[in-house]
Amino acid sequence: MWRPPQRIKWLPKPGTWPSAEVAAKSRLFSPVQVGPVSLAQRTWIPAMVPWRATDEGFVTEDNIEWYARFATGRPGAIVVEATGIRDVPSGPLLRIGDDRFIPGLKRMTDAVREASGGETKVFIQLIDFLSIRRRPDPVKFIERFLMITDRYREALGMPGASDDAVRAKILTMPDAEVDAILTPRDLESLRSGFRERVTDVHMPHIRELPQVLPGLFAAAGRRAREAGFDGIELHYAHAYTIASFLSKLNTREDGYGGAIENRVRLPIEVYREVRKAVGNDYPLGCRFLADEIIEGGNTVEDAKVIGVEFARAGMDFISLSRGGKFDDAKQPKVGEAAYPYTGRSGYECMPQYISDDFGPFGRNIAAGVEIRKAIRAAGFKTPVVLAGGVHGFEQAEALLAEDKADIIGFARQGLADPDWFLKVKLGRGEEVIVCEYTNYCEALDAHHQQVTCQLWDRKQLDEPGIRKTHDGKRRLTPPAWQRG
Ligand SMILES: Cc1cc2nc3c(=O)[nH]c(=O)nc-3n(C[C@H](O)[C@H](O)[C@H](O)COP(=O)(O)O)c2cc1C
Ligand code: SF4
Repeated sequence: MWRPPQRIKWLPKPGTWPSAEVAAKSRLFSPVQVGPVSLAQRTWIPAMVPWRATDEGFVTEDNIEWYARFATGRPGAIVVEATGIRDVPSGPLLRIGDDRFIPGLKRMTDAVREASGGETKVFIQLIDFLSIRRRPDPVKFIERFLMITDRYREALGMPGASDDAVRAKILTMPDAEVDAILTPRDLESLRSGFRERVTDVHMPHIRELPQVLPGLFAAAGRRAREAGFDGIELHYAHAYTIASFLSKLNTREDGYGGAIENRVRLPIEVYREVRKAVGNDYPLGCRFLADEIIEGGNTVEDAKVIGVEFARAGMDFISLSRGGKFDDAKQPKVGEAAYPYTGRSGYECMPQYISDDFGPFGRNIAAGVEIRKAIRAAGFKTPVVLAGGVHGFEQAEALLAEDKADIIGFARQGLADPDWFLKVKLGRGEEVIVCEYTNYCEALDAHHQQVTCQLWDRKQLDEPGIRKTHDGKRRLTPPAWQRG
């Protein structure tokens, strides 16, 4: 992962923990309305992919136990990991692209309700993504996949030469010369692996995304409701399809790119179609980026307009994230695919303890506050979820007291200690296991390995009946809180 060059090491600062009386009177532990449902407290576990589904996208016992474990801490809401809306192979990522996925998902929502005594609401994050290939072997790429055009014949001074002759010539050239003649896209495919973009309108399936996606999201939304989810978060953030439509880098000329009014068009059409499928009495919102953190991408100024348009469309909540793009991702090794959290934008998405002067805590707050202000100024009360390095009660409570956010997201802190919410509410904050923001969990995610936390995954490995990773070396959920 990219890290700021200053390399300043930051320690978590959870601050003072409240007594049970103070917690009971706090804003953090007060209810909040999200469209038609009320969350019992203003705490939220944002989506985190734990790589526990089957290769066919079905819910496993590991998934069920994972979410039930989060639910024992009784946060206001849990958002279940990014779940694919298409019925296509996607590795061990949950899917909701067909009715056959409903029974497994239903078992998961039942488990969350049971483990939280019905206190925690369970949402699901719905995602669509475009295809990305692994970085190819360079010889294979040039021999088999590089499309030979007259542009290359001209650049090499080989007019009329056969494709094979051009390929043979390129294979003899040093890297720097190859880099100089390839188009930027071919060069990217050679050096990092081919990646589809929403602007590849010469490909029919990309051109037709605006016609296809609303229906796919709507069908997934209908299934989510049937599976017992309390609400839906449309994934409009990071490196995925809808975020790419929102991006300033989207130059499509079919009314879905260019000016910001056009870039929000498909996300809003998707929202409306899902709304039709799930009804007005069902919480439906989205997660999008307060700042893309890439050259030429959206800044907070774009995000303000986007937030207002989403609120105007009727979204029940807006959750803000930051960065996490392919555009600045690190070059993968041959045989591996690029990962959108390896560059600077990735750092901003999940800031690590090795940081700059600002540090890893609250890097998305300033942008989030501006977006929320713009939404309020336009006359909308849409609740805004802010996350990013929050691990202390005082920090979270201040964000609410200073009217900067409506709900606070605790992703990695929730992973480090799912009992944070219960412990703090009961006045036992001293017992919280505080996240150290090492990003050990994120590194596992990057390699599509079962995600765990280094603060608990080797503890009490001899506990009877616990589930472990495939290699048997790590436990998959934290030990129960011994309340004493
Ligand atoms: C292992 C892992 C998986 C993640 N998966 C998702 C995801 O599926 N969808 C999403 O929107 N964000 C995902 N994120 C980002 C988090 O939701 C969150 O925005 C980020 O970790 C910053 O919040 P935090 O500082 O509270 O952890 C993931 C983060 C981690 C650590
Ligand atoms: S591994 Fe644990 S301590 Fe490290 S960042 Fe992830 S949740 Fe926090």
